[in-house]
Amino acid sequence: MADIAIITGASSGIGRSFVKALLSSEDCPGKVWVVARRADRLEELAKSSDRIVPVVADLSTPEGINIVTAKVKDENASVRYLINSAGMGKRGRIADRPSKDISDVILLNCTALSVLTRDLLPYMSQGSRIINIGSTAAFMPQPDFAVYSASKSYVIFFGRALARELKNTGITVTTVCPGPVNTEFNSLATDGATSEFKGFRKFFVADADKLSKASLKAARRGRTLYVHGFSQKAFHLASKIIPAGLFLKILY
Ligand SMILES: NC(=O)c1ccc[n+]([C@@H]2O[C@H](COP(=O)([O-])OP(=O)(O)OC[C@H]3O[C@@H](n4cnc5c(N)ncnc54)[C@H](OP(=O)(O)O)[C@@H]3O)[C@@H](O)[C@H]2O)c1
Repeated sequence: MADIAIITGASSGIGRSFVKALLSSEDCPGKVWVVARRADRLEELAKSSDRIVPVVADLSTPEGINIVTAKVKDENASVRYLINSAGMGKRGRIADRPSKDISDVILLNCTALSVLTRDLLPYMSQGSRIINIGSTAAFMPQPDFAVYSASKSYVIFFGRALARELKNTGITVTTVCPGPVNTEFNSLATDGATSEFKGFRKFFVADADKLSKASLKAARRGRTLYVHGFSQKAFHLASKIIPAGLFLKILY
C-alpha cells in the first residue's frame, strides 16, 4: 500500500506552495498527487520531482472527483495528507453576477471539498491529515463577496464538525484561514480586472510559501483552526466581539 499526499489546486498559488513545502518536509509521503484542470501546469510541476504525480480533474463535477477517488482505489493508496486548496471567488454584487458564478463557487469551495474528503476517508487512518483552505473572509459577511465569504464559513463549520466526528480515529482536520495572498485568485475573482488587493487589504498580503509551511506545522500539531498572521488573528478576535450588523454598518 503506497503512502500518498493529495493536493488540490496545485497548479497555482497556495496549492503549489503546499507541494513545495510538503516535498521538503520529513513526513512527506512517497508520492504527491497534484490535482487541477490545467494539465500543462501540472506536467511542468512534475518535472521538478519524480515524486509528483499529475492528476487532471475538474473537481466541480462528480466525474472529476471520481477521477481522483477511482485512482486511489485502483492503486490501493493510503492517503496521509489531503490538502483541499482548490477554490475560487467572484467579486461583485449578487444581482450583477450571472447565477452560474454563484453555483460554480459553491460547487468548488463547498461541494467538491466535502465530497472528495468524504470519499477519501476510507483510505485514511491514524495520523492522516486533512487540511482545508478556508479564509478570514469567513469571519464576517462580505457585501460584494457574499457567496465567497459564506462558502468559507461553510468550510470552517464543516472542518470543525468533521474533526469532532473523527476524534477517535487519529485523523486530524485543520482549517487554514489566510487573509489576502498574492496568487491568481484576485485576478480571477475580478474577471481579470486586477490581481492586486484594494483598500486596507493590500497592507496585509501574506506570502504563500510562509503560509503553507506554517499551515503544515499547525496540522501536525492537530490544530482544528489555524489563522495565519497577526493582523488576521486580530480580525478573528474582533469578529468574536463585534456583532456582524455593527461591523457591516462601519465598513460598508
Ligand atoms: N489568494 C488569496 O488571497 C486567498 C485568501 C484566502 C483564502 N484563499 C483560498 O486559498 C485557496 C487557493 O487559492 P489561491 O489563492 O491559490 O488561488 P489560485 O492561484 O487561483 O489557485 C486556485 C487553484 O484551484 C484550482 N481550481 C480552480 N477551479 C478548479 C476546478 N474546477 N477543479 C480543480 N481545480 C480547480 C486552480 O487550478 P486550475 O485552474 O488549473 O484548475 C488553481 O490551482 C482557495 O481555496 C482560496 O479560496 C485564497
